[in-house]
Amino acid sequence: MRVLVGVGGGIAAYKAAELVRALQKRGHDVQVVMTAAAIEFIQPLTFAALTGKKVITSLFSRDSATDTLSSAVEHIGVAQEHDVLLVAPATADILSKFAHGAADDFLTTVHLAFAGKVILAPAMNTVMWNHPAVQENLKVLATRGYSIVDPDEGWLACGTVGAGRLADPERIVEFLDSLHNKRRDLEGEQVLVTAGPTQEAIDPVRFISNRSSGKMGYAIANAAAQRGASVVLVSGPVAIPPPPNVELVSVHTAEEMRAAVMERLGAATIVIKNAAVADYHVSDIPKQKLKKTATRLSLELDPTPDILAELGQKKGDRLLIGFAAETDNLLDEARRKMTTKNCDMLVANQVNREGVGFEADRNEVDIVTRDGRVIHAGPADKSEIAERILDQVATLRLHLHASAPA
Ligand code: CTP
Repeated sequence: MRVLVGVGGGIAAYKAAELVRALQKRGHDVQVVMTAAAIEFIQPLTFAALTGKKVITSLFSRDSATDTLSSAVEHIGVAQEHDVLLVAPATADILSKFAHGAADDFLTTVHLAFAGKVILAPAMNTVMWNHPAVQENLKVLATRGYSIVDPDEGWLACGTVGAGRLADPERIVEFLDSLHNKRRDLEGEQVLVTAGPTQEAIDPVRFISNRSSGKMGYAIANAAAQRGASVVLVSGPVAIPPPPNVELVSVHTAEEMRAAVMERLGAATIVIKNAAVADYHVSDIPKQKLKKTATRLSLELDPTPDILAELGQKKGDRLLIGFAAETDNLLDEARRKMTTKNCDMLVANQVNREGVGFEADRNEVDIVTRDGRVIHAGPADKSEIAERILDQVATLRLHLHASAPA
């Protein structure tokens, strides 16, 4: 892949050299762009020597012999020539400029002219990282589909310990490869994903629902399609567009979701049950709107069908992945649900934490497997969490294929 590496002005700029080497080792073609602040930390010559190419440091590069501009629109050409824009370290300043569309140097200008995938690997002091302004900018960028490789925790150059250290270069490269379909490891699989909340009517104008946004399920459906699977997405009502190359089936109630899932189950080799299905509903929905006559109103609710439990009973050799949204006893509840609902894997997340889980763009999960492993993923962008979940799904699938009689 042709990777345009943007180096920002932070102490971690020296690690960008290691990153460039790691990218080249995996066969990527690298062009480096440096900001003026980055040059204060590391010489362009280092990157020029590594890549064998002139490092771009300015919007206007003059040919000193003839005193003419070599190309006034170089940023357009450079943008078109590359598949990925990877910024490492992405400083607080770069995040802010990208979020607001600034174009005051080569990196910010090429960013605006760039139509491909943008990956940001931020690095900064923990207090800066946690600042609401930085977190808001990250949110804006994540909403635009940019991928953020979260910083690691550890000793920082400022002498403190915390989140903010540039992610390990190998991790950044691995993430880039996973995004770019190097792995088509779900080719031939038929994946059925459920996402979003369900809405259970209580009268013709009101319903009971929950805070699920569908973002996690949609990210999984999108990632599964990119990894080669044929994907059906059964979704409750959400406010986000469906991913490309996915068959969308829209439903409202738990009963409708159950029917849609069972109808499409035949071909499915993998079922990922991410939806936040209502546990109770009103069986006899009144035809008229409930009037405000009583001083207290009680609703009589009956259980909805437990779709995952039913899927567990008719599992066959398909993989079944459940989810558990918990406020307490996360891992115990995850293991209990995995066993009682006969799943191969259960993804558990704590839903009462700020900034991750329901409604958020980011998530932090524990992936619990039948053989007793617990894989922690995040906090990270939901697209990255989706990849980590599918890594485990692909591994389980591989084992199943390997153990199937020839
Ligand atoms: N689920 C389902 N049908 C339901 C309820 C839940 O298919 N009627 C699935 C969800 O899609 C999820 C898993 O079961 O994959 C766990 O959902 P969760 O709400 O965490 O658990 P419940 O079994 O409903 O238990 P509780 O609400 O008591 O925690």
